[in-house]
Amino acid sequence: MKALVAAGGRATRLRPITWTLNKHLIPLANKPMLWYVFKKITDAGIKDIIVNVNPGEVAEMSKALGDGSEFGAQISYIEQRGGAKGLAHVVANAEEHLKGERFLFFLGDNIILGSINRFVDRFQKENLDCMIALSRVKDPQRFGVPEFHPDGTLKRTIEKPKDPPSAFAVTGIYLFDEKYFEAFKTIQPSARGEYEITDVITWYIQNAKTGHEEITGWWKDTGTPDALIEGNALIMDDMPRETFCVHCDVPEDTQIQGMVTIGNGSRISADCLIRGPVVIGENCEINSSYIGPYTAIGNNVKIHNTEVEHSIIFEGATIDTTRRIVNSLIGLNATLVDYQRTHPKTGHRLVIGDNSFVEL
Ligand code: G1P
Repeated sequence: MKALVAAGGRATRLRPITWTLNKHLIPLANKPMLWYVFKKITDAGIKDIIVNVNPGEVAEMSKALGDGSEFGAQISYIEQRGGAKGLAHVVANAEEHLKGERFLFFLGDNIILGSINRFVDRFQKENLDCMIALSRVKDPQRFGVPEFHPDGTLKRTIEKPKDPPSAFAVTGIYLFDEKYFEAFKTIQPSARGEYEITDVITWYIQNAKTGHEEITGWWKDTGTPDALIEGNALIMDDMPRETFCVHCDVPEDTQIQGMVTIGNGSRISADCLIRGPVVIGENCEINSSYIGPYTAIGNNVKIHNTEVEHSIIFEGATIDTTRRIVNSLIGLNATLVDYQRTHPKTGHRLVIGDNSFVEL
C-alpha cells in the first residue's frame, strides 16, 4: 500500500509563524508536525509515502523532512497543480502515483495518539473499498460529518453542515481503493468552490463497501496558536518514557523533575528547576530559570532569569525576562527581554512581524 499526505495550504491564522514556515513543519516536542504522521504511517507497515506540498515548496519540505530513510521508508514530494481546489482534488492531483492502488490518505495536520494499525488491518482483511475514521467532537459543524441510517450503517458524509446529523467528525485519515479516481469524476465543486472529500466518501457509501471505525486520541490542529500548544502537550504525554533523556551535565543544585529531554551541547546552570514533560534541544543555554511542564525548546535557545511553561520556543530564540511566559509561541530567532534593560526606562520597544499577537 501507498500513502498520500496532504501538506499544502497557507495556514493564515498561524501568521506570522507561517509567513516563513509551512504549518506542517512547525515543531511539536521539537520535531516537525509531519514527523508524527510519518511515524504512524510507517508503524502501520506502509513504506511508500507521497507528500503533496504547495507549488515551489518541494525543496524546502524535502530538506526539512528527508527521504524517509529514518523510517525505513521512501518519501517523495509532489506539487499541487491547478490551484487549491479542495482535498478530493489533492488526491486527484496524485493520480499518476496512486492509479490502480489501495492507499491511505492522511491530512498532515491531523495527529493521532496511539496506532492506526487496527484501522489499516481491517481495511485489508475485510477487503473494504473505503474506510473512514470517526471521532466524537463537541463542534461537528467544523468538520465533515457522517449521517447514519436508523440501523447504524452509514448513509452519507456531509462537509461542515450547519445542522450536524451526528456528533462525529470524519477525521483526516482515509483509506480508498483504486475506484477513487472513478468516484472523483462524478463529483462537482461545492458552494465554497472545493472538491469535497466527503462527496467522494458518499459515493463510496452508495456504490461500494465502506467501513468506519471510531478512534480516540485524535487531535486536529484548528490552525490557532492555542491549538498548537495543546498539540505540543498531547504529543509529550504520548511520548514513550524511554525517549526522554538528558544528554548534558546538570549541576547539583539544579532540579530536574519528571520526564525531561535535554540535547547534546546544552548548558544548564545552577539554580534552575526543569519540571517535565519538557523537551530541550541542542546547544541551548538555560540559566537561573524555571522551565515548566509542556514546554518545548528548540536548538540554540538562550533562556535567562525566566519562568516559562506550556509553550513552544523555536530555534535560536532568546528570552530574558522577569515576566512569566505561558501558553506562548516564540518564533525562530525571536528576542524577548525586559524593558528595563533598554533606554528610555519606560515604554515597550517592539519589533513585531505582520499578524503577530502580543499581550502586554
Ligand atoms: C478537512 C475535511 C473535513 C475533515 C477535516 C479533518 O476539513 O474537509 O471533512 O473533517 O479536514 O481534519 P478542513 O480542515 O480542511 O476544514
